[in-house]
Amino acid sequence: MTTILITGATSGIGLGLAQRLHAQGHRLIVTGRRQALLDEVTAAHPGMTGYRNDISDAGQVASLAARLASDHPDLSTVILNAGIMQSERLGPDQTPLSVAEDTVATNLLGPIRLTHALMPQLLARPQAHIVTVSSGLAFVPLAATPTYSATKAAIHSWTQSLRFQLEGTAISVHELAPPAVQTDLMPGQRSNPHAMPFDAFIDEVMAILTRDPVPGEILVERVQFLRRAEAEGRHAEVFETLNRNFRTPG
Ligand SMILES: NC(=O)c1ccc[n+]([C@@H]2O[C@H](COP(=O)([O-])OP(=O)(O)OC[C@H]3O[C@@H](n4cnc5c(N)ncnc54)[C@H](OP(=O)(O)O)[C@@H]3O)[C@@H](O)[C@H]2O)c1
Repeated sequence: MTTILITGATSGIGLGLAQRLHAQGHRLIVTGRRQALLDEVTAAHPGMTGYRNDISDAGQVASLAARLASDHPDLSTVILNAGIMQSERLGPDQTPLSVAEDTVATNLLGPIRLTHALMPQLLARPQAHIVTVSSGLAFVPLAATPTYSATKAAIHSWTQSLRFQLEGTAISVHELAPPAVQTDLMPGQRSNPHAMPFDAFIDEVMAILTRDPVPGEILVERVQFLRRAEAEGRHAEVFETLNRNFRTPG
């Protein structure tokens, strides 16, 4: 049994993974901003702990890390899942800058700050795991969500560096890069026929997590179209297809 923290587990992918991992007998700590949902999730899953936390707030990240160190010294797996995705206009009639700033604070600074704060605790464990959550859009950007796509590309890059620097320590580093999945990440996404059905996505991720060793990049088949676009010389074509035809979030 492992003690696992999942940020942003009040809904969507974080909640789906928390439910499956809890069912396997792991001790789960889940976070999010919506207290009512945290109460619901923890009530439905005996032994699960919920902490209200805004990952975009440096002070709240520091408090969370302190609480984890005192109340959960056996924490050994951290899934940095919390994220937001918002459309932005960059040209005429441009979107207020606060959208881009919130996106960077949540999707990029949040995981970096929390990893920094938890590093001493994780290094003290005999074995530990850090899982970042990027996106297929880390590899080919969706122009309608420019800062989102940029934060996910940055998370991919940062995860590579983290993995390299932690070689030889007891911490293994993984990156989950989902394709578009039917969640409430963006309005209408749950019923978007171009997005991957939620249960199929969670099933495939859980199957990858049983591999020994778990791969550095946790990639379901559906994301390979984006993940391999550059390597296979399709980047320009995929960029056009993604941005001119589908306008699919994720
Ligand atoms: N679904 C997709 O198509 C897709 C594709 C690629 C990558 N991803 C990534 O997967 C992750 C989960 O997304 P999802 O699809 O499951 O969307 P979701 O259902 O909207 O879940 C997002 C989760 O993040 C939490 N969150 C958002 N802002 C937060 C903050 N400031 N502090 C703490 N928690 C926060 C939300 O909880 P509260 O609102 O309660 O705070 C919620 O639990 C995200 O990082 C997303 O970028 C999703």
